[in-house]
Amino acid sequence: MQFKVNSGAISDISSDALVVFRFEDQDTAALSALAEKNRTLFSALLDKGVLSAKPGQVTPLLGHADLPAAQILVVGAGKAEAFNENTFVKVIRAAATALKTAKASSASLALDDIKPGERTVQWCAEKATELLLTSLYQYDTTKSTKADQNLLEAVDFLAKEQNLDLAIKTGKALAHGMNVARELGNLPANICNPAYLAEQAENLADAYDEISVEVLHKGQMESLGMGALLAVAQGSANTPRLIVIQYKGGSSDQKPHVLVGKGLTFDSGGVSLKPAQGMEDMKYDMLGAASVMGTLSALAELKPAINVVGVIAAAENMCSSTATRPGDVVTSMAGKTIEIINTDAEGRLVLCDALAYVERFEPASVIDIATLTGAVIIGLGHHPTAVYANNETLQQQLVSAGQACWDRGWPMPLWEDYREELDSPYADLRNIGQGRAAGSITAAMFLAEFTKGYNWAHLDIAGTGWTTAKEGATGRPVGMLTQYLLDRLS
Ligand code: BES
Ligand code: MN
Ligand code: ZN
Repeated sequence: MQFKVNSGAISDISSDALVVFRFEDQDTAALSALAEKNRTLFSALLDKGVLSAKPGQVTPLLGHADLPAAQILVVGAGKAEAFNENTFVKVIRAAATALKTAKASSASLALDDIKPGERTVQWCAEKATELLLTSLYQYDTTKSTKADQNLLEAVDFLAKEQNLDLAIKTGKALAHGMNVARELGNLPANICNPAYLAEQAENLADAYDEISVEVLHKGQMESLGMGALLAVAQGSANTPRLIVIQYKGGSSDQKPHVLVGKGLTFDSGGVSLKPAQGMEDMKYDMLGAASVMGTLSALAELKPAINVVGVIAAAENMCSSTATRPGDVVTSMAGKTIEIINTDAEGRLVLCDALAYVERFEPASVIDIATLTGAVIIGLGHHPTAVYANNETLQQQLVSAGQACWDRGWPMPLWEDYREELDSPYADLRNIGQGRAAGSITAAMFLAEFTKGYNWAHLDIAGTGWTTAKEGATGRPVGMLTQYLLDRLS
């Protein structure tokens, strides 16, 4: 899709569809210009209240002899004074849906009229590009009837500012990365298994010179002593993979930032079996891995001068006669022994070995991303990603990056007070807390035992990576991660 800026007069726009916004309490420049052009029509519609100002509600108007645009989509934007990032997201998504319905192949969007608070027009262009492209994604890979083809080919942002090239490029790269993550997430576990994830990583390396991949198999994990990761995988015929993806954009002496993704392509719970209801959603338990792939895809498009290593711990948690039992004690790569009380707390087991593995990169920072706990959904719901860190600066950098690109996170505590929950009489650690209290925090405390050698953050995305609504995988937190990495350039 082609995006550009157009600073011409609104009455000269000849796109298939003109997208303008309507506030409850004040006229936007675009609507005023249209009313100026055709006073009888627009004044009458405005007076009668036909043009809804309800946020996200679209009134489609057919074109008129005195306007070259074939259709005009009036998108309600609420009260001008209350207009914020959330309403921005809502109106752009509504515009995308309306453009699909209108079968428009070209559109012009009155971007200058909808700036939330202090945001710049660059921010608006980047976010609108990302939102339009992610709204057009529709999963149909495993359907025999394919989704309607997307007809939209060109979008003009109506804005006075001419130089929005970088914003558009960034928005496109982000949307691409998010859609990569969403597709991997939405694919069923009988297709997207550990071998499939490894293959996708290899495809990424083939497509971009800056990216290289190494895939470790079971035998290599055994040599490395990854007893925790292997314990999770041992119940499945789909053998695990440790996928190491390197993006080299910086000089060779620049320390890399490392992203570690939980890649449970299916989590049945193992012997501590999950209830049947909703178990199908555990195909999403690889969204941490998907966000690593998505972020590296976005970087490969943007080519910033940094070094990033993505590590994916891919495995399937199944229930079988070879599966790990509750009470089993395993030895992790770091040498710590772990009593596996609950085989459904498997994410932290695969991650602890991946986190020990990445020490070899002497990382500038390590961020793991995981659909780690149901408890985080109880605590924070589906809006922010939980952000843990053993370094306050890193935690703030991630929260700020999320705020900047509107893929938000919220800081969580890693107090030593929680540590005794993980004491075991039979091993150095047990893999779950004593009770259900603070389940997301005790999971993070477990990981903290393995990350003392570097600056580390942990993102629990169980609440934000996917929704049970038909949207499926959301592509979060590709935005936050990419923004965090781009911020490291300056
Ligand atoms: N993958 C799940 C966490 C999860 C649950 C993500 C629901 C998304 C939605 C994780 O492996 C898990 O099962 N966690 C357990 C931990 C418990 C056994 C301590 C949980 O959250 O119930
Ligand atoms: Mn589990
Ligand atoms: Zn899991």
